[in-house]
Amino acid sequence: MNSIATERNLIYEASSFRRDDETPDRIFYRKARLVEHLDKRALRTVEHVIGTLIIEPRPRILDLMASWDSHIPDLVNPELVVGLGLNGEELLANPKLDLRIIQDINEHPVLPFPEASFDIVLNTVSVDYITRPLEVFSEVGRILRPGGLFLVIFSNRYFPPKVIDLWKRLSEQERLLLVADYFSQSGLFEEPSFFVSKGKRRPSDDKYSHLNIPSDPVYAVYAEKKGASSPRAKRPEPFDPEIPGPPPGSPLNQLRGWVMEKKRCPYCQERLKKWLIPLTPFTEWNTDHFYVCFNDECPYFLRGWMTMVRQGNFGFSYRFRFNPETCCMDAMPVPHPNAYRESIVEED
Ligand SMILES: C[S@@+](CC[C@H](N)C(=O)[O-])C[C@H]1O[C@@H](n2cnc3c(N)ncnc32)[C@H](O)[C@@H]1O
Repeated sequence: MNSIATERNLIYEASSFRRDDETPDRIFYRKARLVEHLDKRALRTVEHVIGTLIIEPRPRILDLMASWDSHIPDLVNPELVVGLGLNGEELLANPKLDLRIIQDINEHPVLPFPEASFDIVLNTVSVDYITRPLEVFSEVGRILRPGGLFLVIFSNRYFPPKVIDLWKRLSEQERLLLVADYFSQSGLFEEPSFFVSKGKRRPSDDKYSHLNIPSDPVYAVYAEKKGASSPRAKRPEPFDPEIPGPPPGSPLNQLRGWVMEKKRCPYCQERLKKWLIPLTPFTEWNTDHFYVCFNDECPYFLRGWMTMVRQGNFGFSYRFRFNPETCCMDAMPVPHPNAYRESIVEED
């Protein structure tokens, strides 16, 4: 526990949140940037994630750090959309907004709204610029109604002068865990969930498509505010819209059939690896191999680090494992991301 507390102190020390450009943000954002921050394919994914997770019929939405596009799909029918950002021209160009507020949340993290006034708070491709994340996440927790959703979406592009130093030092996978820690530190949210979409082909009309670099990755970390009354409708997990996953809410038997047929992970849809069971005199599995998800950005594996800590198993996570003989799906504990990879064998 002590070492975790020490690591936390290291993460949250002041130098982590310094930026190359320490002048007030309103100066950098004085010029309107009416540009798309991600390629078209990634933007479709962002809309899909937002559209899947908003299940309220008439939600009240805050777009925190808003610009000219809130990425809210037309199938969502909000009662109210408020945009809070730094550039008036960008906010005016945003057709989804009913109300526009200019406020620097790094200078003034207290949000100008009463408690429980929103169902949804969105923060898209901007979390890496927040210098006081613990205050901001607590504020979001205050203004959300219990059961309301805070959805943080990001990619791997940023304005270098304004990004926090810590962000530059972390891998993309570590950034997911950092944002999850922002949620946890506030104490106001349920355990966060993850969504990852990466390695997709860039649209052919994209200006970088000739360079053969993949589409911009889309990462999401999201959680509901604690305290909702139960029972209540569960938000569906977003799937990558371009890889058909198991039908949402599939019964267990159907899910087993899907995994058996596709040999893909039901949590991230990545191909499962055939994994030879090391010889041991103590266990009898009825098979000499499993299919295991070795994707380090699989939401199941990412969430596993936090679930295991909560259960007192520090430094462990688990991977999705499928037994092709019994069709049993379970969790394989792993002490670090490289563990047990030596038993991966090529597919037959
Ligand atoms: C990369 S853009 C993302 C805009 C929008 N969320 C989107 O998805 O396209 C970052 C936005 O955050 C806003 N922003 C940056 N720093 C801010 C701050 N300190 N307080 C409030 N808004 C800020 C800027 O106005 C800018 O429009």
